[in-house]
Amino acid sequence: MNDFKERIAAELIAVRDRSLAYTEAEDDLLVRQHSPLMSPLVWDLAHVGNYEELWVLREAGGITPLRPEIDDIYDAFKTPRKDRPSLPFLGPAEARRYIEGVRGRVLDVLDAVDLDGPAPLHRDGFVFGLVIQHEHQHDETMLATLQLSGQPGLVREGELPKGRGAGPGEVHVPAGSFLMGTGTLPWAYDNERPAHRVDLPGYWIDRLPVGNEAYMAFIAEGGYDDPRWWTAEGWQWRQRSGVTAPLFWVRDGDAWCRTRFGRTEPVPLDEPVQHVSWYEADAYARWAGKRLPTEAEWEKACGWDPAAERARRYPWGEDGPTPELANLGHRAAHPAPLGAYPAGASAYGAEQMVGDVWEWTSSWFHPYPGFRSFPYKEYSEVFFGEEYRVLRGGSWAADPAAVRTTFRNWDYPIRRQIFTGFRCARSEQV
Ligand SMILES: [Fe+2]
Repeated sequence: MNDFKERIAAELIAVRDRSLAYTEAEDDLLVRQHSPLMSPLVWDLAHVGNYEELWVLREAGGITPLRPEIDDIYDAFKTPRKDRPSLPFLGPAEARRYIEGVRGRVLDVLDAVDLDGPAPLHRDGFVFGLVIQHEHQHDETMLATLQLSGQPGLVREGELPKGRGAGPGEVHVPAGSFLMGTGTLPWAYDNERPAHRVDLPGYWIDRLPVGNEAYMAFIAEGGYDDPRWWTAEGWQWRQRSGVTAPLFWVRDGDAWCRTRFGRTEPVPLDEPVQHVSWYEADAYARWAGKRLPTEAEWEKACGWDPAAERARRYPWGEDGPTPELANLGHRAAHPAPLGAYPAGASAYGAEQMVGDVWEWTSSWFHPYPGFRSFPYKEYSEVFFGEEYRVLRGGSWAADPAAVRTTFRNWDYPIRRQIFTGFRCARSEQV
């Protein structure tokens, strides 16, 4: 294998190690559904193998199906999450055997294919990038399931850099056009393409994500009880759900605690807030006299280099993330303190845009002008419209392989189990 193929093989091994680590548990924990929002963990495990079989073995490798009879069980479209516990899915031991069998053949296909050839699935290893990112995304989902389950054992206490208090609250992004999306990053998804010019008026965006201390002030000042701060839909959701704080927060006298992978601990004042819905983020922003950034504002503040007139792959430049630049890859099981990554700042001075928490934007998930679905419509196209809000940046649980300034995530505005926070923006005074 050449160097590039070796790197792909290493990524495949790394992501599988991660999936196996999250499913090293008693069978009962793996087959149970911990929330109607989530799949049983063992479903996720075999699903990533089935996806790999479908795309690498059958589509890219032309190999006869190994287990065609299980395809329907693992087709995310045919089986809504709430119905998954009643499916005849593979048990833990069989699921592990199945994905291992698929993986062995995947490495054979990798060895044999021409990554410089004209086939779009093969070119630059796209199909391998597809399954590696897909598995990392499921791993993050599995972490959310484990957090919901209240199971202890997954609290990784890796060392994160200290926060720093000093610095401006907002950074300024002058009016002008920038290049949004990408036409060049080989593993970018269809929804990130094509690159296109977007002209924006000037605006201010928070230098850092909104922190727990600031969010506590919103709660203390009655933010959850004042319909002025909420959209009509948001207020309806607020009343119906009875929500009065981020998910996993519990009141402890005058203070707030949170549960995190089965432990209860004080909410750290200096971490970005997480586990808030889009409605909560939107209401907070209005209370603060601001608004959520649009997706374009978020991407320009994160990735555009105005001096070089080009988009960066990461806020700080082209080199991959390191522990000094961003909190990614489940190093610890929580966001880093605010201000922990000055070296990871974007050209405009915004910090912690990649890693720590996904960030809600005000935008619906729409296609870019000139969008073409690839390699299949169910990846992005069927989700376009005014049902899902766009999230950007990637959380502490996202892997560097599935993070870049152009990456788009999307979810329902009511979702809170994901590792999500936000930052605010405001238009330039005119
Ligand atoms: Fe999937």
